[in-house]
Amino acid sequence: NLQVDVAKTVTKIQPTMYGVFFEDINFAADGGLYAEMIKNRSFEFLFPMMGWQEPNSDRHKLNEKSGIANVIQYSQKGTNHNYCRVTINDASGYELINEGFRGMGIKKDLKYNLTLKASKISGNISKIKFQFIDKNNKVLGETSVVPTSNDWSNYSAQLTSSATEAKAKLKITFEGNGVIDLDNISLFPEDTWVGRKNGLRKDLVQLLYDLKPGFLRFPGGCIVEGRTLAERYQWKKSVGNVEDRETAVNRWNMEFSHRPAPDYFQSFGLGFFEYFQLSEDIGASPLPILSCGMACQFNTGQLVPMDQIDPYVQDALDLIEFANGDATTAWGKVRADMGHPKPFNLKFIGVGNEQWGPDYIERFKVFQKAIKAKYPNITIVSGTGPFPDGDFYDYGMKELKKLNAEIVDEHYYKDPAWFRKNVTRYDNYDRKGPKIFAGEYAAQSVAIASPENKNNWECAFSEAAFMTGMERNAEVVQLTSYAPLLAHVEGWQWTPDMIWFNNLQSYGTPNYYVQKLFSNNKGTDLINITKDGKAVTGQNDLFASAVKDVNSKEVILKIVNANAASQNVSIDLKGAKLESKGIAVILKGDGINDENSFDAPTKISPKESEFKVSGNKVQYDFPAYSVTVLKIKMK
Ligand code: AHR
Repeated sequence: NLQVDVAKTVTKIQPTMYGVFFEDINFAADGGLYAEMIKNRSFEFLFPMMGWQEPNSDRHKLNEKSGIANVIQYSQKGTNHNYCRVTINDASGYELINEGFRGMGIKKDLKYNLTLKASKISGNISKIKFQFIDKNNKVLGETSVVPTSNDWSNYSAQLTSSATEAKAKLKITFEGNGVIDLDNISLFPEDTWVGRKNGLRKDLVQLLYDLKPGFLRFPGGCIVEGRTLAERYQWKKSVGNVEDRETAVNRWNMEFSHRPAPDYFQSFGLGFFEYFQLSEDIGASPLPILSCGMACQFNTGQLVPMDQIDPYVQDALDLIEFANGDATTAWGKVRADMGHPKPFNLKFIGVGNEQWGPDYIERFKVFQKAIKAKYPNITIVSGTGPFPDGDFYDYGMKELKKLNAEIVDEHYYKDPAWFRKNVTRYDNYDRKGPKIFAGEYAAQSVAIASPENKNNWECAFSEAAFMTGMERNAEVVQLTSYAPLLAHVEGWQWTPDMIWFNNLQSYGTPNYYVQKLFSNNKGTDLINITKDGKAVTGQNDLFASAVKDVNSKEVILKIVNANAASQNVSIDLKGAKLESKGIAVILKGDGINDENSFDAPTKISPKESEFKVSGNKVQYDFPAYSVTVLKIKMK
């Protein structure tokens, strides 16, 4: 028997309770959410012809026969360093092919917008042809541009695909002979999210939108920190004109990765402006995290000397101005000029990602002082490192408490049993201390980032069990997010991940549907659900939390049955008059190892049914290994 006290609000549930954590890992940005289809569009990768092939040219013979592409530097200055000089000797044969991000996903009858810069140098190249081709070189769409100018000029054209193909490439051929310079060759599908230019992949944004996330944390993760300080994420380089955003090597390019991706770079076409815009689109509070002057401690651990920390702190202050300042401020003007005169209503800022130890505390203090002096209403998120317990964690927490830290970010990547066992983790947290942001967590079926890890049902329902514990402690736990969020099936470095995609499709894992169930049913007020006066924390493998929603006038119970048998439970709800029927939303797999896949993307997804409410009693049979949300309208 479970008892629910509907009348008494224990605490308010924060609108930020369930959010999303975005990091450009696993091709999440370039090659994923960011809909650009050309890899290395401005020839800026470490090897400037990465992503580009010249199948008919023989560089060793100087390409006397067909032609050659050479990368040339504009100058040492500026942010767009390179361009490509193409010399055509014999128009019959030379081809330049862009391979996309593990191919290009193209859809039948969809239009694709091509843009580029070109400058004629000598001879007469009269036409440049662009074609989608499949692996057999079959043409699946074509367009061309006529280069007219000897100065850098912008050209645009549109291709329509004649077939759906996950592994298309873009072939470029030339008519005439001569030399021409090319740069910023870019290709976007017309069906980006809300049809934006430089836009995002619609199916992926839709999945995020459907979560109704309370916040969007960006841009990471370790990517914030960089392998070295020079490689940290610098938000100022990610805003303004897209062509002027300087490409950088991705932190997940090589190291700490089961699947090194030497062709993993950041174009920053999806930059801070776009992250703020995405937050707004999906109704999430933006939560940017910035470098605190410490490179990833799993890499070099490079530290900025304390007497050189000012530019890092200034970046944080300027970011707040970028988000919230009006157009009379320097950074507010940058935002307004980018097409968003209204402020983005930034409320939170994170200082450092996953840093720990005295080096972190020393740096955090400087940020805290400067941010609070100028922006006392901005809430600062601090970190405790990657440890959910132990000496480093204890030290961090102790010091942060002394500093009156407002919100502390905790991370845990543990096995599923840990999640079930630690459901009481926050029961004894100091109610007067810092609030908690469970900023990165995911149950690991094998081991952190293992290639064998699965997004299986046991991991998902164990996370759900743990989430009932976070929800029961909503007074302390005010933001939570699964991590990582997105992974390209051929470009990942980390497992498990919440949403998997290829060039054409995407699907939510069971973990995604757990997040969706909790987030879509977060309610407004926490109420007590107990068994014999105690919280339901795994007795008979049952886990439970309860809320009411004062807007929809519903009581919402979340019950996880982690047992191999179904359990028939009677629930007494006191303190409200209830409708005689409720809606049950049930999530369950076909056994603990069950998963979703591209072929069966919604195999494990919420199913709704009705149940009877007799006065103030509900008798419900919770299936084996299930997560159930029971919703009852109050009269
Ligand atoms: O989510 C993957 C990584 O895990 C993040 O980049 C980092 O913060 C954590 O170690």
